[in-house]
Order: sequence, then C-alpha cells, then structure tokens
Amino acid sequence: MTDTVLIIDFGSQVTQLIARRVREAGVYSEIVPINRVDNALDRLKPKALILSGGPQSVTNVETPLPPDWVWTSGLPVLGICYGEQVMVSQLGGVVEVGHHSEYGRAELEIVEDCRLFDGVWTKGTRDQVWMSHGDLVTKLPEGFKAVGVSKGAPFAVIADEARNFYGVQFHPEVVHTPRGGDLISNFVHKIAGLPGDWTMAHFHSSEVEKIRAQVGRGRVISGLSGGVDSAVASVLIHEAIGEQLTCIFVDHGLLRQNEAQEVVELFRGYYDIPLVHVDACERFLKALAGVSDPEEKRKTIGGLFIDVFDEEAHKLGGAEFLAQGTLYPDVIESVSFTGGPSVTIKSHHNVGGLPERMNLKLVEPLRELFKDEVRALGRELGLPGSFINRHPFPGPGLAIRLPGEVSEEKLDILRKADAIYLDEIRKAGLYDEIWQAFALLLPVRTVGVMGDQRTYEYVCVLRAVTSTDGMTADYYDFSHEFLGGTATRIINEVHGINRVVCDITSKPPGTIEWE
Ligand code: XMP
Repeated sequence: MTDTVLIIDFGSQVTQLIARRVREAGVYSEIVPINRVDNALDRLKPKALILSGGPQSVTNVETPLPPDWVWTSGLPVLGICYGEQVMVSQLGGVVEVGHHSEYGRAELEIVEDCRLFDGVWTKGTRDQVWMSHGDLVTKLPEGFKAVGVSKGAPFAVIADEARNFYGVQFHPEVVHTPRGGDLISNFVHKIAGLPGDWTMAHFHSSEVEKIRAQVGRGRVISGLSGGVDSAVASVLIHEAIGEQLTCIFVDHGLLRQNEAQEVVELFRGYYDIPLVHVDACERFLKALAGVSDPEEKRKTIGGLFIDVFDEEAHKLGGAEFLAQGTLYPDVIESVSFTGGPSVTIKSHHNVGGLPERMNLKLVEPLRELFKDEVRALGRELGLPGSFINRHPFPGPGLAIRLPGEVSEEKLDILRKADAIYLDEIRKAGLYDEIWQAFALLLPVRTVGVMGDQRTYEYVCVLRAVTSTDGMTADYYDFSHEFLGGTATRIINEVHGINRVVCDITSKPPGTIEWE
C-alpha cells in the first residue's frame, strides 16, 4: 500500500494546498473532512497526520474535534493554525480568544532548534510567514515547548519531539510562507520517515495495474473532449487494456481552429487508439438556433452531448465501463459549517449525467490527481507538450464566447480571430505565463472605415487572465505594443471584425468566461 499522509480538513480555504505540498515532497496524501474521518485510520492506514486550519474557534462549546486515535495511534501529527489550537486544547493546554489577531505577513523568530526546522532555520533566524488567526495558544500542554515566536503569537511553533507532535500557528502551505514547503517536507521525510518515492512514474505503473484489475476483459468507452484530462485518461487506459478501449469524440463544432483534426490525428495517427469521430456540428447548431440565454446554451449543449454520446455507445454495444477524466478537486468533499446551499453561478458542462443514464461502471484513473499532476502524467505518457500545456477550454466551447445567438458565420469569424490572438501570444513567448487567453465576438456591429469605405462589422474582445486554479483571476497586463499589433492583425485578416477591445476585469467581480 502506498505511504499516505492523511490530512484532516477542518474547512480551511487552503487545505488543498497542504495536499499539494505533501505530494510535491514525493508523498501521497489524501484529504478527509473532519465529519468523515472516523474510519480513516483503518481505511487509509496513514503514516502521518496533518490537521488543517479552519474557520471555527476551539473556545466555542460546539467545535469540530478530531477523534482520540489522532493522539493515541503513535503517528506523527502536524497541526496547522486551527489544527495547532485543537492539538493544544485536546492535550491539556489553553487557547484563548486573542486580542492581537494576526492576518497576513508576520515575522517568525526561531527560539530553539527542532527537527521541523532541519536545514531550513536555526535558532535566531527570522523569516516571513503567513498568519491568519484570531485565537491564541496561551498555555502549552505537558511535553511541549515553544520553538518559534511571532509578535502576535508567543507559541507560533510548538513541538513535543518525544511524541512527534508539532503545531504551527501560521500557514506553511501558502506561497507567502516562502520556506513553508520545506517545513512540510521535513515533517513527512525527517519526522515521519517517509521515503518520498511517490512519483508520476510510480503512479503510472501502479494505475495501469489497477485499471487492469478493475476492468478485466470488459469493454470501456471514453469520451474525448479535446481537453487534457480526457486525453490523459484515455491514453493511460489504452496502455492498460489496449483494444478493449474505444474513444468517442463528439465534435460539436464549437472547438477552436484545427482542434478537431488535432485530436483525431493524435489518437488515431500517433497512438493508434480506436476512435469514433462523430461529426455532430450541424445537430448542435440546429439545437442552438434561437438560444441566446447563457444557461440555456449550456444546458442545450450538455444535454445534446449526452444524447449523441449515448447513441454512439449503443451503436458500438457491449461496453461495461465508462472512462472519465475526473480530477481530485472534483472528488474532495468540502466541509460546510454553514450547511447552506451555494449559489450556482454557471452550470459547468461535464458528462456527469452519462453513467446513470447508460448504467455503466466508472473508470476514473485521475481521481487522485491535481491538474498539474495530470500534466506531469501526460508528459510521462508521451503526450506532446503543446497539447498538455494548453490553456483550459470550457466544455460548451466557443458557444459561450459568442454572447447572443450562435451561428456558423460567427463561429467562423471568432475562430479566425482567436487563432491570430493565440499565435501572437505564442510568438511573444507569453503563452505559458497566461492561465487562459481567448477571443470573444460580441453581437454588436460598429461603424468603421477601411480603405475609404464605410464598414459595419462585429466587435472582437481579447481576454487573458492569470490564475492558479481558475477560482480567482487577474487580467494579464499586455504591453500596448502587443495589443496594438494584435488588433491590427485581426482587423486586417479577419473579414467581419472592424474593432478590437480588451477586457481588463479580474475575477471576482467578473468571471473568466463571459457566459
Ligand atoms: P469562469 O467563467 O466560471 O471559469 O470564471 C472558470 C474556469 O472554468 C472554465 N469553464 C468551464 N470548464 N466546462 C468546463 O469544463 C464549463 O462549462 C466551463 N465554464 C467555464 C473556464 O474556461 C475557466 O477556466
């Protein structure tokens, strides 16, 4: 069984980052919310435990507390923020409502050497850490000593080295604690003694075995979208079971320039994977006729996608399994202490309705991976870098980049403008700095003049954002020279556009896509 670090989630916004830092240290980690943790010791057989931060206060009567086995199983424990406070209060110390809350950057001073700091900090070092706490540890449990202090937290880092219990009041998992990743690495390697052999090569070979064991001699179908996740999942499954896999590529006609051909060439040509290419462009255009409401567009495309996929799967017949490129962030259950439903901003398109409708079992080889790990796996499987490092692309495709009604004419114009924009970005060497860049076409015509002639054509919008996860984003700050050059090229080369504007809205308040 793979060495696992169990991260008990108390509802911090940044718990996923803890998992990433542990995995970056070459150790597999899983997040389990506090309200589901009771059987996690037997189920996951973890080798070390990390308690996340959280919005609660241990000074309240009703506050989530970890089960006793956390303290009695002999496993090393690292408590972060609320996790440290839980450690202190459960083991006999005192936590009080703080009068000097610390939020943001703080200076940590190391007052004693300890194994957590090995090779990172020594006694007397001062360094930046990221704090976010209102409550304060005021008395340590027996066996603990303070090894790091900050202005607002006299017990900023605490250690009971005999029991391997460590607590940090700051957040080592965020980038604003520059040496935080090294502390987490020390915890898993030097304190928990884990070797750090969880690499993509290791994952690759063990996943191939798992797929073989799950599928046996059964047949698997996989939906390709043109995106990285479904491609990586399909190539991996093909490696495991060969011709028992058939890929179905539903071409809805809403992809970018040349994208459909690239998918077909890569899968049929390069990998020799059985592929059904369904040209459903006309059906999608017909279904979208007269639809301009964003949610109705999304539902129309999502529904028809399932219909077409289902039809093709029936034609093939005999499939027992459906492959999906589900990722770890979609799987992690989040802790909600408020219990209220969250508002739907957009109904993201996915093929979530398929398994129920088709009565198929799921093969989800990526469900333990984060997006950057999927890219690493893709490289390991030999997928071309240009494919793996592509910017994210939404399931409903160009339809949601054409506010208003979708038509073949508009799609054609948008595709050309988008291709020029991306070409300029690549030529300027900016592609990998940008999370996502794309053109939009507005349903507005404006007057212009070209070669002494009056023009009356569409407006193109250039959008580019930086982000780490798509949840928040900043607009990308192009130089005026770049923008001017790109606008000129688009207007000169694309018939149908006579004006180019740039979207400089961050998220929030905007979203990345316009619909
Ligand atoms: P928003 O527009 O919500 O987008 O800020 C956040 C990220 O999600 C992508 N996106 C989608 N991806 N199906 C997808 O697979 C969708 O329906 C969808 N809508 C938005 C968007 O491109 C951005 O990366």
